[in-house]
Amino acid sequence: MAIEAIPLSKHIGAEIRGVDLTKPWDEATKKKVYGFWLDHLVLLFRGQELTQEQFVASTGNFGRLAKLIRPAEFRPPGYSRLLDNIMLISNIRENGIPIGALPDGEMWFHHDMLHVEMPHKGTCLYSVEVPSHGGNTLFANGYRAYETMPKDLRDKLEGKRAFHSYNLGELKRGDGKGVPHVKQASHPMFRTHEETGRKAVYFNRLMTARIEGMDPEEGDKLLAAAFDHSENPEWVYEHVWRPHDLLLWDNRCSMHARTDFPEGERRLMLRTTIEGDVRPT
Ligand code: SIN
Repeated sequence: MAIEAIPLSKHIGAEIRGVDLTKPWDEATKKKVYGFWLDHLVLLFRGQELTQEQFVASTGNFGRLAKLIRPAEFRPPGYSRLLDNIMLISNIRENGIPIGALPDGEMWFHHDMLHVEMPHKGTCLYSVEVPSHGGNTLFANGYRAYETMPKDLRDKLEGKRAFHSYNLGELKRGDGKGVPHVKQASHPMFRTHEETGRKAVYFNRLMTARIEGMDPEEGDKLLAAAFDHSENPEWVYEHVWRPHDLLLWDNRCSMHARTDFPEGERRLMLRTTIEGDVRPT
């Protein structure tokens, strides 16, 4: 069966058909699908019934698996063991404590791990249980945001760097230089993708605290305009999950967000990430 990429929206995302994630891929298949990833930024594989080993192996087709910062403390029913590189994203609770990370509700647009020096290049998310509605994941094309940004705004941000944190509230409450225990990193505001050579926006509403070396008031105004522009629905794809979907996204040139979902309904995802190869430039 031929390997096909069927676009999911005008500017971002493609569903890949004609590959089997339960089996090892030969080099030609890896190269072809990797090429689709670079072209479409987000890949969807539908209807994949994967073991944890197969999920980890599938992620490995795209790079080196990243180690988890915090290994999972709890296991959902049916997961008496969890492979080292798999993180649970879930609102399911045991003794009132979520078994996974990022448990509840809406999340603003962000790039995974932007708060570290060497951010992860990609993320794979695999759905096990999904709510009846909501909990959709949205993806925005960062190249498109860069290329269409009004010139006056782009000129003001070109060549600038910004600080990013996992805990923006805490970082902002600090003295403007950040507080020592809050992990933060500074990166160029426009990142050149090391494989495609294209530039993409590399800041986001959830994690970006301030523009380096800029008066905070002026910086906040520019950031507000830049966030609004980069989240334009014209280059956003909203994914409505079905069980056993696997999504892979490129954190170097896309950002993602999540819509709200009912508190009383279960959402269980397995997540792996792929290590970055270079420091962002
Ligand atoms: C994430 O930001 O990695 C999780 C997104 C989601 O739960 O849909």
